[in-house]
Amino acid sequence: YKSIALLTSGGDSPGMNPAIRGIVRTALNSGIENVYGVQRGYSGLIAGDIHKLTSRSVTNIVQRGGTMLKSARCLEFKVPQIRAKAAEILKEKGIEALIVIGGDGSMTGAHLFTEETGIPVIGLPGTIDNDIPGSDDTIGFDTAVNTALGAIDRIRDTALSHESLFLVEVMGRNSGFIATQVGIACGAELVVVPEYEFDLHDLCVTLAKQRANKLGSSGIIVIAEGKDPGLTSRIAYQLEELGQEPKICILGHIQRGGSPSGHDRMLASCLGASAVQYLLAGYNDIMVGVQQGAIIDIPLRKVITDTKTLDQNIFAITTLLHK
Ligand code: F6P
Repeated sequence: YKSIALLTSGGDSPGMNPAIRGIVRTALNSGIENVYGVQRGYSGLIAGDIHKLTSRSVTNIVQRGGTMLKSARCLEFKVPQIRAKAAEILKEKGIEALIVIGGDGSMTGAHLFTEETGIPVIGLPGTIDNDIPGSDDTIGFDTAVNTALGAIDRIRDTALSHESLFLVEVMGRNSGFIATQVGIACGAELVVVPEYEFDLHDLCVTLAKQRANKLGSSGIIVIAEGKDPGLTSRIAYQLEELGQEPKICILGHIQRGGSPSGHDRMLASCLGASAVQYLLAGYNDIMVGVQQGAIIDIPLRKVITDTKTLDQNIFAITTLLHK
């Protein structure tokens, strides 16, 4: 390859910058002459907002959160004619391959794009949610978990001082990976995730009973945001009916920002470098991810059709650690 491009797409995640740096530097050090950065994900691809990157352009970003290329959720890219237009734009610039860093929606776009246009594409799993099938880990998950933990440790201090009960909502619209890991690591009294159904009333009655028997203690309930935006408020309301005075804290986009952890910098740098190596070795239509500590490739078709399930045994541990 003489010229390749890369983009970041969907919700940003801490570690996208070291991934960009890993791709750009590896490509330039491996004989690829031109590396282009596409601004704002697929939106910038359609708009032709594509600029050459040098080794210097990615200086001093390994420690920075967010993405220097900016990101967007691009609904237009779901239209085949728009994807064909994007391919024309790449061809006009002499760009022969594309690397996409993003979540599940971005991997779907990547697969359809290469299938329809023949332009080789490699995907990298970049999302705080850790919900990409085929990879045990995603760029940004570790940082998001640690950011949430930092916040909850502070909440625990005040909860202990006031013997109060907190409902802490973490991100994860479709998945409870963040909630489960955060819940175990912060010592949550209870964890609620979208993967497992529960009876709201029973859950609140049990919790109220637990609290009644343990005066003097704090309580932290970690709730994954899930698809239902009112869930946390409904749990709070039910608990109030049962005589509790829960306080709500929604951590929200705080979890998407901040300097990537050492783990995420390492993961992102290695996946970025590997994406280029896979491309140069002739691979196409794959995502480069991690399984049992090793870097592997998975067909994008499999990534977008499989689902990644929350380990039931690990989730069960959240119910075993309360007093
Ligand atoms: O996919 C990452 C994520 O942070 C989810 O956890 C969350 O549900 C969603 O993005 C929020 O997206 P937006 O910033 O577009 O509201």
